[in-house]
Amino acid sequence: MRTFPGPALCRSMEFRSAKRAVLQLLRTVAPADLPALLEWMRTTRDFDEFTQDNNDIMLKNIAEDLRNCLPLETMLSSEHLALQKIQRQPEPTVHVDAFLYDEDFIDSLCEEGKMSRNYCTVCGSHQTAPLGFISHSFSLMELKFIYHHVLPDLSGKVLVDVGSRLGAVLYGGYLYSSALQLYGVELNGDFCQLQEMIVKKYQFTDRIKVLHADVCTQGSLLQNADVIIMNNVFEYFLDEAEQARAWEYISRHVRKQGSLLVTVPSLEDSLSGLQINIQLSPWVEEQPRVSVVRILDADMALLIRPR
Ligand SMILES: C[S@@+](CC[C@H](N)C(=O)[O-])C[C@H]1O[C@@H](n2cnc3c(N)ncnc32)[C@H](O)[C@@H]1O
Repeated sequence: MRTFPGPALCRSMEFRSAKRAVLQLLRTVAPADLPALLEWMRTTRDFDEFTQDNNDIMLKNIAEDLRNCLPLETMLSSEHLALQKIQRQPEPTVHVDAFLYDEDFIDSLCEEGKMSRNYCTVCGSHQTAPLGFISHSFSLMELKFIYHHVLPDLSGKVLVDVGSRLGAVLYGGYLYSSALQLYGVELNGDFCQLQEMIVKKYQFTDRIKVLHADVCTQGSLLQNADVIIMNNVFEYFLDEAEQARAWEYISRHVRKQGSLLVTVPSLEDSLSGLQINIQLSPWVEEQPRVSVVRILDADMALLIRPR
């Protein structure tokens, strides 16, 4: 016969008893070690797992599912141009997807010898230099920041993520916003399949739709969107002539009055260096206060409102 503990044993500790237990424990700590322990309690990230809400946990589960389907560098062999462009960077650069691998995860991969933050400048010597890191997705922190602090309430609104890749912006929008519909447009069919898999598994189908398409065929979607997110969409994936053509298409179709365009890097930076004649001031206006915000250690994001 199996026995189970009664209700009193099963119940977790309530606030007052838990507080008492913590204080009791602190009283047992050697006085010399107490300041260090208190400092650790004040600054540690070891408590993160207790303070995360369910949405964070769900996003972390999604990231884990995707990690299990993708190589460490999160690039696919079908991404020829992007792979070539990363190899052509002036300094050695690795691709680490910020949605799949947060800083702690990278630290543990470095400890296990599976990744390095540095490269050897003179073989065999101790002279090393930091490797450049490129991410092709927003991190969980960046997504939270965008949905909680950059964008207004999205109830009833339509959001389009141009180049949705792993779908991080879509899942973040589903969990951290009330957007009515979230559309991802992605050129690469392999990434569309991965997004479809996640959307089905987590039952996001009521509000997320993934379109396998070149954004330059999606005029009416862009015309009707209330929010358009563009995270480094073209730079690594298209040659310069194609980038210019794509931006011209965007500027012709993102015209809905009052809609918001969030770009990383800034629109000026994205367009600089391209043979293109897009006048920003008759088209868009930067939003005061939140217009240029630093998103953690990523580039600038510019939130602009088409006139
Ligand atoms: C840097 S990733 C953006 C990732 C994602 N939006 C995020 O922030 O997490 C850019 C993606 O845009 C896609 N892309 C590039 N040009 C595109 C185009 N013309 N139409 C649709 N997708 C495109 C690429 O295949 C790539 O997956």
